[in-house]
Amino acid sequence: MWTAPLEAQTVWLDELDLSAATQGFGMPGKNKSVDGKPITIAGKTFKRGFGTHSVSSLLILLDGKASSFSAMVGIDDEVAGHEPAAEFQIFGDGKKLWSSGIMRLGDSARSCSVALSGVKKLELVVADGGNGNYYDHADWADAKFEALGANAFVTINPVSSTPYILTPAPPATPRINGASVFGVRPGSPFLFRIAATGERPMTFSALGLPKGLKIDPRTGIITGRVSNAGTFNVTLGAKNARGTASKKFRIVCGDRIGLTPPMGWNSWNCFAGEVSADKVKRAADALIKSGLVNHGWTYINIDDFWQNHRDSEDQTIRGKLRDDSGRIVANSRFGNMKLLADYVHGLGLKIGLYSSPGPWTCGGCAGSYGYEKQDAESYGKWGFDYLKYDWCSYGGVIDGMADNDPYKVGSLSYQGGGDLPTAVKPFKIMGDYLREQPRDIIYSLCQYGMSDVWKWGGSVGGTSWRTTNDITDTWASVKSIALEQDKAAAWAKPGNWNDPDMLVVGTVGWGNPHPSRLKPDEQYLHISLWSLFSSPLLIGCDMEKLDDFTLNLLTNDEVIAVNQDPLGKQATCVYTDGELRVYVKELEDGSRAVGFCNFGLEKVERSFRDFEKLGISGRQTVRDLWRQKDVATLGATQSKLTLNIPVHGVLLYKFSPSNR
Ligand code: GLA
Repeated sequence: MWTAPLEAQTVWLDELDLSAATQGFGMPGKNKSVDGKPITIAGKTFKRGFGTHSVSSLLILLDGKASSFSAMVGIDDEVAGHEPAAEFQIFGDGKKLWSSGIMRLGDSARSCSVALSGVKKLELVVADGGNGNYYDHADWADAKFEALGANAFVTINPVSSTPYILTPAPPATPRINGASVFGVRPGSPFLFRIAATGERPMTFSALGLPKGLKIDPRTGIITGRVSNAGTFNVTLGAKNARGTASKKFRIVCGDRIGLTPPMGWNSWNCFAGEVSADKVKRAADALIKSGLVNHGWTYINIDDFWQNHRDSEDQTIRGKLRDDSGRIVANSRFGNMKLLADYVHGLGLKIGLYSSPGPWTCGGCAGSYGYEKQDAESYGKWGFDYLKYDWCSYGGVIDGMADNDPYKVGSLSYQGGGDLPTAVKPFKIMGDYLREQPRDIIYSLCQYGMSDVWKWGGSVGGTSWRTTNDITDTWASVKSIALEQDKAAAWAKPGNWNDPDMLVVGTVGWGNPHPSRLKPDEQYLHISLWSLFSSPLLIGCDMEKLDDFTLNLLTNDEVIAVNQDPLGKQATCVYTDGELRVYVKELEDGSRAVGFCNFGLEKVERSFRDFEKLGISGRQTVRDLWRQKDVATLGATQSKLTLNIPVHGVLLYKFSPSNR
């Protein structure tokens, strides 16, 4: 029989479904840049192409039907004034076929032409060029395939979009969750609300409380002051119609606070510059109503924009920055900060706020520069429990340009904090003033990991410090942040936590609310890793829009217990095989939490027997923490585990030595 010869055709990349691409920012542009403008590289405009943002990946099924791919690649001119750097890469069936080398703004478009015969799966990648992916607007211009016997190709995103719930509902009988150790300084106000699930009404008890503390049996809120330093072993109790529960709880009265990573909510990732006292109160109410409080979630933190702004057109945030005696004035959306703090404390929760050591915050509101003492006193008087202190315009102070545009001087911050004494100084000043207040204030340093902050953050009174740049709700962001945490791990300990930034699950959007763009498996991986990292857990979503899937992520007490483990160790990656990375965290009871993490684009389906490389030997009970059930006993008859991990997914297991 005669068959027609296969016809050679041109298939343009922009004719394919580009929405399958994942990228670090914005949406894929069809014949447009990522900002929706004409594609322009070094002054030359291209009619066709794919505009994206690093870190970007587009998977195309070619099925051996393409003979070649060609394109002109480069950084889009629309980011003039910034310093992007990115690298274009092409992979065929997992093998690197071509790379552009690092490209910067103004580099003329580089031409690529790659032979593809036999290639089944092609991946177009734009990687970060080594300086973070800020402003990496990247174009695959005039991109096209020469194909034989095909006039289109299918793009795929192999990460599943179907949400599924793993966390079992808590039983109706009482169960006490949350931290089992709590630090307070002698004489400071004490506030701790027992976190317990189970049917209501419930009554609470606490046996062995040190002198000066009392419990409200109806709410489980413990208040008072402990005047003497010491460790007090308390037994917490909870009782309802179905039964009773108890839990050992250690109160350590001494110098250290934040003995387990702070857990709560922060306004930035959902409201950004639109935050108000009303929204903060509603978040606090929702934390109670949703039941999150029963799992240990405690802090309600206001981020940027509670102060007045230097030049916003929005009059609700304009006004005197400070009163005549130099005291910071909250903007009209907030008014009386003490009333707000009282409201949150009344619920048994704690409250935080935000400032900058520079004259302006990152968003252009009043910072603390020159007023550190007054500001620390205001926070103390109002009753705040947590300060996030964000470098931002301090870069300008160093350069003597404090009065310039905060955004401009803010961008200098990413270039480093100068020499070590310069980097440390502003944080030490505020740390010392916070310490003078008659209450315990968690001190959260935010300077994106400059000058190896993990090595000195504790010495200025810091409870936690950001290790990396701002998170966004993209896989690229979560992955790149996760991969950078190991360097700081050795410095994590009770009272000193590395902070990879806030959670991006639920409805987020920095003022433009949308469901997190992380896929369900990526969200399981995100929460598992942040728990393994002993990271502060700050929910970044709109608390009034919590859906069942998000609640399932945030209420798994066995997963949270990994984060809150009193030993305070941070997991590190101890084993890699391709894109399988295995993180191990030692726990106080001698067991280990192990995250088998799939960072790749293929499912992991294999058996695993390298337990010694994880520091694990002998008989072990293996428990799946998300599903809250034992899955294996190793060492007796079984010597391997079968791993089935979805793309960008995780198995979070606990290995406990067993005598059975
Ligand atoms: C910086 C921080 C963010 C947030 C904003 C507020 O970007 O890293 O977490 O606090 O400032 O302007």
